[in-house]
Amino acid sequence: MATKNKKEYKDLLPRLDYSRLPKHIGIIMDGNGRWAKKRLRPRIFGHRAGAEAIRAVVELGVELKLELLTFYAFSTENWNRPEEEIQGLLKLLKEFLIKEIPELNEQNIKVDFIGTETGLDPEYLAEICALAAQTHQNTGMKVNIAFNYGGRLEIIEAIKRLTSVQIQELTVDNFGQYLYTAGQPNPDLIIRTSGEYRLSNFLLWQSAYSEIYITDTLWPDFDKMAFLNAILDFQGRKRRFGGLNNE
Ligand code: IPE
Ligand code: IPE
Ligand code: MG
Repeated sequence: MATKNKKEYKDLLPRLDYSRLPKHIGIIMDGNGRWAKKRLRPRIFGHRAGAEAIRAVVELGVELKLELLTFYAFSTENWNRPEEEIQGLLKLLKEFLIKEIPELNEQNIKVDFIGTETGLDPEYLAEICALAAQTHQNTGMKVNIAFNYGGRLEIIEAIKRLTSVQIQELTVDNFGQYLYTAGQPNPDLIIRTSGEYRLSNFLLWQSAYSEIYITDTLWPDFDKMAFLNAILDFQGRKRRFGGLNNE
């Protein structure tokens, strides 16, 4: 029986305007728990599938030569989850790095963490930082892993580091240099999976003018096609930044 070929992400590539790609895309990877629940499996099974889903998104990022992707992996509020799930997530992050580093290096990707050190076991933190450091010679796409990250705490930690002179000289334009994302462009696009219409403390300062794209797709099912659809949707938006005719 002749079946029509499933549409592939590559079929959509001609619709893409390469001159207007987002520089920085932030991704709120939500819905792992619901994905697992649908399969009558424990939540950690969903988190494992979620970690796998990151690979395709990173691959397309490299293919499109994006500058920066930020993945929201663990929020400062996620400590409110059961201990077993938290420990599972911490273990998974470390395993993910160990497994993916050769490929990340192959693709010239530089990985960094953004988030607070507060609440983390120093030994664990040193281990995951050492793993990420193995990619620091790379010069291609950058990947931020927002881990133990909270936008409100990021702002508070920044302010606490400022001297009184720096506080006097603070402006809307220079405050970003004190955040974890110092030197990086603000996210042009923020994607959230699993149909929740909120930021959940993600990049609060940096997202002031981000375009927000929400899909019902649960994170483990988010693939290159889904990612490309988000970028195409972004390219159909009119960004005005408070003005009138900004195309
Ligand atoms: C996102 O999936 C991953 C993390 C927050 C660590 P969830 O675990 O929030 O999945 P749902 O929202 O319960 O489906
Ligand atoms: C946001 O998802 C945090 C991450 C994806 C890491 P949550 O599942 O924690 O967000 P809420 O609780 O639904 O707002
Ligand atoms: Mg969730």
